[in-house]
Order: sequence, then C-alpha cells, then structure tokens
Amino acid sequence: MNETEFDFENRIISTEYHASDAEVELSLRPRSLDEYIGQSKAKENLKIYIDAARMRGESLDHVLLYGPPGLGKTTLSNIIAAEMGVNIHITSGPSIEKKGDLAALLTNLSEGDVLFIDEIHRMSRSIEEILYPAMEDYVLDLILGNGPSARSIRIDLPRFTLIGATTRAGQLTTPLRDRFGVLLKLELYTVDELATIVRRSAGILGMTITEDGAKELASRSRGTPRIANRLLKRVRDFAQVAGKEEIDQEITAYALGKLEIDELGLDNIDRRMLETIIKFYNGGPVGLETLAATVGEEAITLEDVYEPYLMQIGFLSRTPRGRCVTAPAYHHLGLPAPTPTQAAPTPGEQLALFGDEE
Ligand code: ADE
Repeated sequence: MNETEFDFENRIISTEYHASDAEVELSLRPRSLDEYIGQSKAKENLKIYIDAARMRGESLDHVLLYGPPGLGKTTLSNIIAAEMGVNIHITSGPSIEKKGDLAALLTNLSEGDVLFIDEIHRMSRSIEEILYPAMEDYVLDLILGNGPSARSIRIDLPRFTLIGATTRAGQLTTPLRDRFGVLLKLELYTVDELATIVRRSAGILGMTITEDGAKELASRSRGTPRIANRLLKRVRDFAQVAGKEEIDQEITAYALGKLEIDELGLDNIDRRMLETIIKFYNGGPVGLETLAATVGEEAITLEDVYEPYLMQIGFLSRTPRGRCVTAPAYHHLGLPAPTPTQAAPTPGEQLALFGDEE
C-alpha cells in the first residue's frame, strides 16, 4: 500500500462494524437505560417519555436519534424496546427497496412494537411517503393493480413506534422530520464516560484494566464507544502476547502507538486531512468538495466520520468559506502555525491583488 492508498474498510478507528467484531460487540452492549453510560441529557428525557407512555398504557411516540456514527443509536433503540416491553424489528433506509418492502414490515408489526430504521435519510422519497399516514394515523394506503382497474385500499396498522436513526438530520425531508414526536441528539462521549465504558467492557471480557490504562484508551477513542471497545480488544491482544496479566497505561500506549493512533486518537487519515489543508491550502479555508477530491475520500465521509471529532477537539473549524485548520492542530502536528500576515489570501483578496477586473 503506498502513501496515497489507504484501506478505509479496515481502518482500526472505523466506526463501521467488522464482521469479526459482531459477536463480542453484542455482548458489550448495555441492555437497559441504567446500564447505558453517557448521553445523560438524551437518557433523562427518554426515561420520562418511556415512563409516561407506560403509565398511560400507550405506545411511545416516534423517536428520531441523530448524531455521528458509533455512538449507540442501535443500542439505544434496543433498550427503548426492552424498557417498553415490546418487540423490535430492525431495518435500514437503503435496504427498503420497494414500497412493498415497507408495507410488509408495517403489516407484520404488533401493537406497541418498535420499527427501527437505521440510516433513515437514505430511504427513497416515494417510499418515505408511505410512512406519513402510517406514522400519523396508523394506516397504510395501498394502490392495488394499475390502469383503470387500479383501486386503493386502506389497512389499519397497530399503534407502533418508529425509531429513525441518522447521521444527518439535515437531510431528512421536513414532512418526515415533523412526524417524529421525540428528537434526540447523541453527542460524542467525554473521556471519563469512555473510561467507564472501557472498564465495564473489560469486566465483561474477563480482563483487568487499570484506571490509567482505561483513561489512556478512552482519550484515544475519539469520543466513540464503538472505537473504544474495538481498541480494547486490540490492546488485549498486545497485552496477552506480552504476557501481561492486566492492561495498564504502558501496554495501552505501546499498542496504540503500533496501530499509529496518536495520543488524541488521530490516525493517518486525520493527519493527512489536516496536512493537506495546511500544505495545499495554506491552512484553509478550503471547500469540502475540493478537500475531499485532494484527500481522495468522499465529502460525505469526511463530513460525517472525520470532522465531528476534529471539530470537537478544536483542530478544525467550519467557516462560510470552507474548512480551516486551527493553531492547536499545527502545534499537534509539530508544524509552525502561520502568523496572521502569512495567512492565505481569499479568492476575493487574490483578485484584488490583480486589481478590479470588471
Ligand atoms: N458499550 C457501548 N456503548 C455503551 C454505553 N453507552 N454504555 C455502556 N456500555 C456501552
């Protein structure tokens, strides 16, 4: 693999599931709100809505969960169903290809059931329209046949709860977004919350991890439990081969160094993205599409997967004119930060240098 090729699929801090991780991942997932660590704002409110719905003997209102990948949207949906004492049916926007697919899902629901649609922003508009009457009036309107003999029928649906999950709430159409009664934004986790998650996971996996070891791992996990749990398994491998009984800070730092994940959790791709903005665009501003083309990655991936963390740690800022690298990022990369006079001229300023050409 040369410098410009990177195996995104197997990126160790990818927020995608890896098949081999699936089973262990499942065992680490909390099963109740009490077990669920972090997201205190979303959790507190959710608890009230669940308790209230249960007291009234009603189904829970439709819920939209949004935020960066790997923060536990699916986990939280499973917990909601478990706390409500109902079944959950899981699907995703891209896998609902035809109207009939969604109709089949809806007609198979029982009273109170949860229908979880992951990546709901990727559902096609024409299919999405079936959801409007289903969410609002619990009915399914179907057209049978076509041409002059076509007729429409209306089927009553049970009172169900739709839980939609998305990394991009802004891409949902207004009619769909407006039909969710509960909107919950999931935030990146703090280091302390991640350290607690890591200690819990280590316990489930039968390992011992020191306070310092958990903190070290947590601070390199980009605010994301899925990454923390994956790194924990890799650090366990290094500890085992090194013959260590417990995972301490030293073996954690060593293992993550070998995986080229730095003290802040940045990997090669993050560093390349920052260095590209610095080297080719004088630190920015640079438009997202231009940056994506230069880095060789899709704009949507940069925006959803890489940027949230880089912005959270203050290394990247989004301005109306594009992305800019901040002084702390230069410092982290060991590069001299530009003084204000060295900052790149904007396109407007560049034009001005050539005089007013109108
Ligand atoms: N494992 C993954 N996410 C978790 C969370 N939010 N709480 C507890 N354990 C977790």
